[in-house]
Amino acid sequence: MQLSAAQLSELRHSGYLILPGLFSETEVELLHSRLPTLFADGDPSNIAERGSGPVRTSMGLHLRDDLYARLVRHPKLFTPAQQILCEPLYIQQAKVNVKAAFSGELWQWHYDFATHRQEDGVPQPLALNLHVFLEDVTEFNGPLWFIPGSHLLGEHPASLDKSSTSYPLWVVDNTIITDLVRRNGIVSATGGKGTALIFHDTLLHASPSNMSPWDRAIFSLILNPVSNAYSKTTRPDYKHHRDLTPVTALPVNCLGV
Ligand code: SIN
Ligand code: MN
Repeated sequence: MQLSAAQLSELRHSGYLILPGLFSETEVELLHSRLPTLFADGDPSNIAERGSGPVRTSMGLHLRDDLYARLVRHPKLFTPAQQILCEPLYIQQAKVNVKAAFSGELWQWHYDFATHRQEDGVPQPLALNLHVFLEDVTEFNGPLWFIPGSHLLGEHPASLDKSSTSYPLWVVDNTIITDLVRRNGIVSATGGKGTALIFHDTLLHASPSNMSPWDRAIFSLILNPVSNAYSKTTRPDYKHHRDLTPVTALPVNCLGV
């Protein structure tokens, strides 16, 4: 579960890591099987696409489902995070971002820390975003796009966009993106189900809408050092959980398959 020196170096340099096949097909199928019930339970932390479309994101999952309560403590996610950050971590956010076939909408260009700082008063860009693909993510169904190395290029001005999608987000202007992409290019983070991603809080990323006939669901866990906790509670707790209890790892077979 430990990352190699080469992987740590790549993460430092590129701002992200892609870990193909981190979770098995059986683990992913079990996690995936919980989604229909979670999406249909009427919880306010299920956020629909604009115009009451399908679920865009389903949040607070570790408090709503026992399997996700175990996933957020899974050593395949927790051990690398602990290795990278070397201090006690709390669960800032745990969700599945869905992009339903034909109707799943884009995520604009952004870096997560802009939202974490502006909305939640997080002091430093230390949080890690850990993703697990619950469906195959291809060039067609709305993969994340990263600007490699953009986490090293300082902080960029960001503004709150409440209208492009149903999820308010602090976004970065196209002129800045154009300049950074000219310098560093774009990488599309694709992979089979079970692939994991780790990326830094200041890495610029986006994802296009899903015009394909294939759904795309990605689990996302944000872990933040307890020493770097929120200082504002303006957003609902399912967008930034208040419980600062440090996460501890469960056994590797904690999903029961
Ligand atoms: C996406 O689900 O495509 C975007 C996720 C993110 O911004 O972290
Ligand atoms: Mn993001």
